Amino acid sequence: MPNHLIIEGPQLGVLRIALHRPEALNALNTALLAELAETLAVAEKDAEVRAVVITGSQRAFAAGADIKEMAARDLVGMLEDPRQRHWAAIARFNKPIVAAVNGFCLGGGCELAMHADILIAGEDARFGQPEINLGIMPGAGGTQRLVRAVGKALATQMVLTGEPISARRALEAGLVSEITQPELTVERALAVAETIATKAPLAVRLAREALHKAEDTDLATGLRFERHAFTLLAGTQDREEGIRAFQEKRPATFNGH
Ligand code: HXC
Repeated sequence: MPNHLIIEGPQLGVLRIALHRPEALNALNTALLAELAETLAVAEKDAEVRAVVITGSQRAFAAGADIKEMAARDLVGMLEDPRQRHWAAIARFNKPIVAAVNGFCLGGGCELAMHADILIAGEDARFGQPEINLGIMPGAGGTQRLVRAVGKALATQMVLTGEPISARRALEAGLVSEITQPELTVERALAVAETIATKAPLAVRLAREALHKAEDTDLATGLRFERHAFTLLAGTQDREEGIRAFQEKRPATFNGH
């Protein structure tokens, strides 16, 4: 049983994971990251889980890596840091993640949120990479994913000044896709995830992979991947079902084959 997560579901195809270290604003210690990686590994094999919502509390999604834990690690400790393995496992998860972000979303917390496919933020959310204030820098993808999410100008300002941005700014910059009243963030994220959970799982998986290619490859390679994935889906039962349901003017029921 995880100690630092509250897990609910899957309900309507959605597994809900709440980060739960209220005493430390959900700071991501090694134990929490290990539990998250393990929970996602189990969810990946569970066909009932079609999408995941990750959330924190009203006060904080997560205030970063656990600074107290980090302080105890020297250079060699950092090189052998088990957290890298957990981060890599989270990044490899192959189903859609929707992050519901309220309050502080800082450092490793912002980096975790950027591992999500879709970010929904409460109006009170604050996104930032304050590592520079500690004499360090982002280490879980912050410099790379933030540039891709908000562009080089704003990412550079955030990483070099350590100053956070508001939810509205994050929306304008493209880091989040929607903002909501803080008390409705989780509900909205669940609704988005539930919508995805009704779609054909193989189509979702390949579309998601193709979207990732847009971030990490050149246009020609990305287009080639898209064409191959699109062609592959022609062999699925769910494509047949989707097209037949449209013609018969009824909702489609997808089975993942
Ligand atoms: C450990 C943390 C923490 C953190 C907060 N706490 N952030 N503990 N690691 N990252 C703890 C505080 O010590 C305190 O516990 C409790 O949570 C409440 O925090 P307060 O500071 O009292 O709350 P508040 O005054 O409201 O300020 C909130 C805050 C501030 C602005 C978010 O806590 C803050 O600046 N936190 C650090 C943010 C940060 O620098 N994040 C980046 C970390 S480095 P006690 O017991 O002391 O009262 C990082 C690197 C990623 O993320 C690299 C990945 C490989």
